[in-house]
Amino acid sequence: MVNDSQYEEIGAEFIDGQRKYFSTKTDHAREFIRSRLPDLSGKAVLDVGCGHGSDILTYEKLGAREVYGIDISSFMIEEAKKVVKSPDNLFVGSMDSIPLGDRSIDVIVGRFSLHYLSELDKAYEEFARILNDDGSLIAVAHHPLKSFVQTGSRDYTNKDNVEMQLYDNKVTIRFPHHTLKEFFSDAFFGLFYLDYLDEESSIDPEYPNEQNLPGYLAFKAIKR
Ligand SMILES: C[S@@+](CC[C@H](N)C(=O)[O-])C[C@H]1O[C@@H](n2cnc3c(N)ncnc32)[C@H](O)[C@@H]1O
Repeated sequence: MVNDSQYEEIGAEFIDGQRKYFSTKTDHAREFIRSRLPDLSGKAVLDVGCGHGSDILTYEKLGAREVYGIDISSFMIEEAKKVVKSPDNLFVGSMDSIPLGDRSIDVIVGRFSLHYLSELDKAYEEFARILNDDGSLIAVAHHPLKSFVQTGSRDYTNKDNVEMQLYDNKVTIRFPHHTLKEFFSDAFFGLFYLDYLDEESSIDPEYPNEQNLPGYLAFKAIKR
């Protein structure tokens, strides 16, 4: 991980920036997740990198039996506890070590959180452990092409940290660049079927840039 504590420092401005930014713009990443969610009635959902919990509230309202959240930032978890129905279901911790039992979750959702990991495979193994048979993983992450360009490197396989500005350049985040093959590694395909793949349209991108690169990579995977 690049900097586990960064959301302790930027959490408040991230929450404020996100709220203001999406008060006038469509949140395409959230729309992607909503469009790929199964019927949540009676289901157990886990939001990895749940942040301040606004998505958890949505899954609760959609009829999920239980919604859990894990985030490495205690500040973000404290903020989430203020808005969700079941604050005891929120954990401070890393998504590659989740305090839930084997086959206890039906749907895992990760919105803009996977890319903070230095090693995606360890988290994929953990997701597969806690998912029920046929359980699904729905994720949106910063696009590898965009993060590669942001590193300024000539080597696509570089492991450099990316610095990116969000929400009209008001919030600065840092995370390691991941290649496309890191997202869809051999370990990933050993544990999941790729059910659907999308990338942000270059029309009205969430994070505009001169080269019109897609802002996010989004996918749905089903446990094998
Ligand atoms: C860009 S924010 C997204 C928050 C929320 N999902 C949203 O869409 O508003 C990324 C979140 O991932 C969390 N995070 C980073 N590394 C993590 C890890 N290894 N395990 C769990 N959460 C992590 C951060 O603390 C932060 O709250």
